Amino acid sequence: MRRKLIAGNWKMNGLRAGGAALAGGLAEKCRAEALTCDFLVCPPAHLLIPVSEAIAGSGIALGGQDCHTGASGAHTGDLSAEMLADVGCSFVILGHSERRADHGEGSDLVQAKALAAARAGLKAIVCVGETADERKAGRALEVIETQIRQSLPEGAGAELVVAYEPVWAIGTGLTATPADVAEVHAQIRQLLVELCGAGVGDAIRILYGGSVKPANAAELMAVDNVDGALVGGASLKLEDFWAIGSSCP
Ligand code: 13P
Repeated sequence: MRRKLIAGNWKMNGLRAGGAALAGGLAEKCRAEALTCDFLVCPPAHLLIPVSEAIAGSGIALGGQDCHTGASGAHTGDLSAEMLADVGCSFVILGHSERRADHGEGSDLVQAKALAAARAGLKAIVCVGETADERKAGRALEVIETQIRQSLPEGAGAELVVAYEPVWAIGTGLTATPADVAEVHAQIRQLLVELCGAGVGDAIRILYGGSVKPANAAELMAVDNVDGALVGGASLKLEDFWAIGSSCP
């Protein structure tokens, strides 16, 4: 049985006061109620320490949004997986489509970053997903399969997480239909079993991301092989993020 993971990707949003208040509000709710899912928040780098203080003892996990492949060195502006671990992170998002698009990150680099995450003891959330043109051309499954084959690190364990985020559904209000999500997640599951063996392949969590909100969360979280959500915009609103977590079966 895979416990659902509800992950908030805050992206480049939030200043100190608002970030700490948002994380603190979620922590208060988590301390007060027995959780049926795992919560994770991935704030921008300047908020990692205040958010880690706000969520202490709440059971909420902390994650980074990217990491460098190296442990340290002359890489201006970058953070290593070891640095993320040092401030309390246990997860890191890798290969998000915004990094693939904004920074030209390819799957080979994502794979190297996933190895760096494992070296530092972080759980990588490897993101994949097709563009609107690729889906229209009937190439969605092929694109996702190639990204997974090239992005997954060798020797990946059950702690790895894969996030399916159709690029056309991110921040657009459009969501994939439950039938499309079921098809893609089933194919990802099959591929994970092929690449990692049945035990690990069955245990890896596969998240859906792309305009997840309270109104569609229950339907999406009930789909086979959907083991949680990677939430952007709605993770910045306490009540919405909490409602998404509460909608897990
Ligand atoms: P939205 O939930 O804002 O569509 O963003 C999804 C996403 O990119 C999460 O990583």
